[in-house]
Amino acid sequence: MSLPKDFLWGGATAANQYEGGWNIGRRGKSSDDVITNGTHTEPRCITFVNKSGERVKAPMFVGADYEDVDHFECFDDCLYPNHEATDFYHHYKEDIALMAEMGFKCFRLSIAWSRIFANGGMEGEQPLEEGLKFYDDVFDECLKYGIEPLVTLSHYETPLALTEAWNSWADRRTIDCYVRYCEVVFNRYKNKVKYWLTFNEINCIEMSPWMEGGVLTKDKQTMINMAHYQFVASAKAVKLGHQINPDFKIGCMLAYTLTYPMTCNPKDTLAAWKNTHNNIFYTDVQCRGYYPSYRLKEFEREGITLPIEDGDLEIIKEGTVDFLSFSYYISQVAAYNPEDYEGAGGGNLSLGLKNPYLSASDWGWQIDSTGLRNALNRLYDRYQMPLFVVENGLGAFDKIEEDGSIHDTYRINYLRDHIKAMDAAVNEDGVDLMGYTMWGCVDLVSASTGETAKRYGFVHVDKYDDGTGDLSRRRKDSFYWYKKVIESHGNDL
Ligand code: BG6
Repeated sequence: MSLPKDFLWGGATAANQYEGGWNIGRRGKSSDDVITNGTHTEPRCITFVNKSGERVKAPMFVGADYEDVDHFECFDDCLYPNHEATDFYHHYKEDIALMAEMGFKCFRLSIAWSRIFANGGMEGEQPLEEGLKFYDDVFDECLKYGIEPLVTLSHYETPLALTEAWNSWADRRTIDCYVRYCEVVFNRYKNKVKYWLTFNEINCIEMSPWMEGGVLTKDKQTMINMAHYQFVASAKAVKLGHQINPDFKIGCMLAYTLTYPMTCNPKDTLAAWKNTHNNIFYTDVQCRGYYPSYRLKEFEREGITLPIEDGDLEIIKEGTVDFLSFSYYISQVAAYNPEDYEGAGGGNLSLGLKNPYLSASDWGWQIDSTGLRNALNRLYDRYQMPLFVVENGLGAFDKIEEDGSIHDTYRINYLRDHIKAMDAAVNEDGVDLMGYTMWGCVDLVSASTGETAKRYGFVHVDKYDDGTGDLSRRRKDSFYWYKKVIESHGNDL
């Protein structure tokens, strides 16, 4: 069998992990510029100076209290891997040519918001022509090869100026800044970009508010405020985008985690369902246009209030998305008594229990290709709208042989199994799937650990965890394999 002829095959990246050029073209600082490197055992840290003048390194996934911050600072003795990343900024022509050589139909990238509005788009602020011109050049280069850009408006970075002003998405004023930014880029690129995503992995707000939206907090009420503001902002962007160009297709983006019950004990099944609810709460709001009852009840029990103002619920209803995109890397296991079981020991954002039927990557992420078919079916059953797998891939150590080749058979095996699962979901189960963009098609910086040693790409970049490397590009075995896959519409695996 094969996937449809108009299937959007390609690869995915994000500015914060790939683009570099952090201080070029009057670009403002973003929340990612103050995150250090880490490893899978040492956390990445947010660096700032506190009110007592002390230098603080706060673990990214734990966060800190906003009130403690005097100002954010990059410390001389720390490494900040996102500053240069793998330098798409200076290599975009070469990289897009490599994507074209593989036959890409689609390239997912994000716009660095602070490259367009250095201060996030506060009242009266003018957009930066240098930034706008850069993305014009990038999109033109894609279109030259017939590659459709798929643009994420906010992917794990928020202008730091917004955090400094009012803790970013913890404050309602950020909605207007985001909409101003969307208006500028929608108008500017309305004839070049058709596919847009409003927020990357929006459900990660409750796992890492810093990474997802530049908010420093440990407080659940603040995270729920943040979610509400982003729901309103996303819905406004969808409405505005459709006014600017009715042909736009604007999607949401979920980090989907398929959850199995540990046993057939009904209590485990309920625990797995609760996990699922936590995950799909975000798509429930963005695809269906209203808050689901299970979460409203939880908020009531916990004394959490949604910061709803007049008109918000109508906006959320009117601004539902055109399609649902998601990332899929792992599945997880839940039990009502999790302490009785061994942990999976992996997964950057959500740790589950160890699944005895699955193997795991070098970073402990449990590999489950069948789960992708399951995920596609569950999401399609629930929402009945087109789906798009915009991230999937294997982070692994790669070895360069003496002759310069890289035999990444493990990556090919991983991708082959997942593509087979997609094929079955489409051809046997009838799921409406728009495309597949493999994550990190050119090596980039890991979001959770800040490493470049955790490589995903078809293309190797000469860049290492200590910041060294000449940034040269080299094709891996998977590069030639993916080219065949695309040419054959997914038949030649
Ligand atoms: C997703 C993110 O969570 O997973 C990407 O959208 C990220 O930004 C990807 O890079 C893989 O995770 P990691 O931590 O291996 O980079």
